[in-house]
Amino acid sequence: MQIITTKDGSHTLFSEQFNEIYHSTHGAIQESMHVAIESGYRFFSSQNPDGVLRIFEVGFGTGLNALLTLIEASKQNRKVDYETIELYPVSTDVLKELNYTAILENEKYRPPFHSIHLSTWNEEHQITPNFNFKKIKASLPVQQLSNNNFQLIYFDAFAPQIQPEMWTVDVMRKMNDILVPGGILVTYCSKVAVQKTLKEAGFSIEKLPGPPGKREMLRAIKL
Ligand SMILES: C[S@@+](CC[C@H](N)C(=O)[O-])C[C@H]1O[C@@H](n2cnc3c(N)ncnc32)[C@H](O)[C@@H]1O
Repeated sequence: MQIITTKDGSHTLFSEQFNEIYHSTHGAIQESMHVAIESGYRFFSSQNPDGVLRIFEVGFGTGLNALLTLIEASKQNRKVDYETIELYPVSTDVLKELNYTAILENEKYRPPFHSIHLSTWNEEHQITPNFNFKKIKASLPVQQLSNNNFQLIYFDAFAPQIQPEMWTVDVMRKMNDILVPGGILVTYCSKVAVQKTLKEAGFSIEKLPGPPGKREMLRAIKL
């Protein structure tokens, strides 16, 4: 695992196992802010401002999406239950080098970011007064998940050409099942085959402008 600095100054990782990077080289924070926070979290919470927001993330990786969500929840003073799945956890030696809170110029979030990384797997933890967190160490295609349980999914698997088993109709049906009606899934990937799979799995699709360096991304709504 190698740490790489992207164009907005924030780190990402290169996985030798998958020969792939975790985020856009144009900016890791920039990409996560655009896809997960602006197109997912803020969109959903502007239409559904009340109550606990339950979020599921595919591919915990560096924990950047979790950190940005914790910060957003804290700014909005909204309660968030965050659950994420990861089969190949990154070592804590690498994770503690990540520069996200420094780039965000908000070192007060460094301790909760570390708590997220150091929290035990498969158990719920209260990281801050309004951020509950659970990371599941398992493989998405085979893991049993509860239906009707989440309002928002950050689908952040490696690309379909690297891991096609993460983008099947069965997996997307599972994503559809775990969402409440009207729940949404956001993903950086806008490939036509992925659009088709999502529709087959019961979503309606919206194409949105992508983050810098990428023309489009997808927001899928459970019908
Ligand atoms: C694009 S990276 C995720 C980036 C992450 N969201 C972040 O902010 O750093 C994809 C992640 O999916 C994980 N992954 C690969 N196969 C998986 C599987 N079968 N089940 C769950 N996670 C898997 C990888 O280890 C990697 O961390």
